[in-house]
Amino acid sequence: MKKIQALALAAFVLAAIPGAADAALVRLVQAGNQMPSGGWCDANGQSLAANSSRSYQLQGRIDGAGYSSINGKIRMKTQTDKFEWAAGSEPAVTFTEYASSPNTFSIKAKAGAPAGTHTIDFVAVDANNGESEVKSCKITVTGGGTPPDLKITFTAPVTNADVPASQSVTFTLKLENIGQTAMPSGVTIALRRFDHTGTGMSTEIGSPQTVSALAGGGSNNISFTEATRPGPTGTASVTYLYKVLITPSSYTDVNPSNHLATRSVRYVAAQAGATFATLKETFQHARCTTCHGFSAASSTKPGHSTSGCTGCHSSAAVGVSNWHAPAASFDLRGKTDAQLCAMAKTAPAGKTVAQHLKNDELIKWAISDGRVPNGTTLQKAPPANLTTWNQRVDAWIAGGMLCQ
Ligand code: HEC
Ligand code: HEC
Repeated sequence: MKKIQALALAAFVLAAIPGAADAALVRLVQAGNQMPSGGWCDANGQSLAANSSRSYQLQGRIDGAGYSSINGKIRMKTQTDKFEWAAGSEPAVTFTEYASSPNTFSIKAKAGAPAGTHTIDFVAVDANNGESEVKSCKITVTGGGTPPDLKITFTAPVTNADVPASQSVTFTLKLENIGQTAMPSGVTIALRRFDHTGTGMSTEIGSPQTVSALAGGGSNNISFTEATRPGPTGTASVTYLYKVLITPSSYTDVNPSNHLATRSVRYVAAQAGATFATLKETFQHARCTTCHGFSAASSTKPGHSTSGCTGCHSSAAVGVSNWHAPAASFDLRGKTDAQLCAMAKTAPAGKTVAQHLKNDELIKWAISDGRVPNGTTLQKAPPANLTTWNQRVDAWIAGGMLCQ
């Protein structure tokens, strides 16, 4: 009997030695009102509405002798997907031999915290980050239930979009509240670019935007512009991943159906020599200039009327359904390189330069088909091969549509 008591005493003395590496020097003595049945936080049995906060008592003290005070923290060990410190970070406390100060703490139920009774585990943390044993407390949440369900999609640019040299990107995001519950104002959306080298470093695009309240079923658009193009500096193109981040994180933690959008974008390196010179030969070729001089000088094709082209140049005869002559202002003959380059950069309304140069039926006809109504096939315009033409157009556009 005596021996057992002596052993227990020795163990107690060891545990109480200040600085003993594996023992926390502080402990939590009370979480909430500590009902005998186990840890109701609120003495009055009040419930906490989702997205609101209230003060609860959490009291600690120094565990052992030898210190007059220890600076530490109170930590929430569980349920951090539903609750957070209203102050935003773990509260700093001073532990003394008798109590800690402060000992009441404002705890917030997150907007998405589901209704019901939740048991939170707390610990006291000493200056060396040593954690005491857990004390639990129960909090009953009301009103939570269905959290707002925020869905975010990129509407621009398209995924894996190529960004030509010397251009930067504006990202447009559509925010939709696809849930029933209104999303309160104050939710912040940030867009970050993740380093392709995989170091995990990311760069903020513009500044995070605080969005206004969004009723269930409502939607909203926001955009972020990349002020400085991230690269590449060398000759190899580079792809970056852009990721949307939502604050508070409860939108991602609590609600698994949230849709955090990502988008990858390829920054195309400027290619040496990808100037208009690679396209010039085509623009000056008879396959293009005959049509592109037709209205300016109808004598080019004696016997041709200036209307009703498709009667003879039918799609069956020439493989193009919309044969017609461009206006005199589109005369490609006798133009300087700079003028031709400027004309190449303009596209018909509603089309991009790439769409026009690569998909236009008449241009494709001139480069690869060349059939005319009398059954003959004319010489094709250089590079006389659509694959090569498309590559040249892509390289020219990617290089910033340089004229020389
Ligand atoms: C009466 C039938 C007929 C009509 C109408 C007609 N064409 Fe033609 N076109 C031809 C024939 C046949 C050829 C091939 C012989 C030639 O080149 O003269 C041809 C050739 C052409 C060529 C090829 C010349 C080259 O060297 O690239 C162009 C361009 C052309 N036509 C444009 C037009 C346009 C534009 C119209 C309408 C404003 C039109 N044609 C109306 C019969 C016609
Ligand atoms: C059958 C006649 C025809 C041929 C052949 C043709 N084009 Fe055109 N092109 C047009 C017409 C017509 C327009 C005016 C826009 C329209 O109505 O589609 C046009 C417009 C253009 C434009 C200006 C676009 C704008 O709206 O500013 C460019 C550049 C152009 N063509 C380049 C070419 C090149 C390069 C070739 C040869 C590879 C070529 N075209 C062959 C008929 C032709």
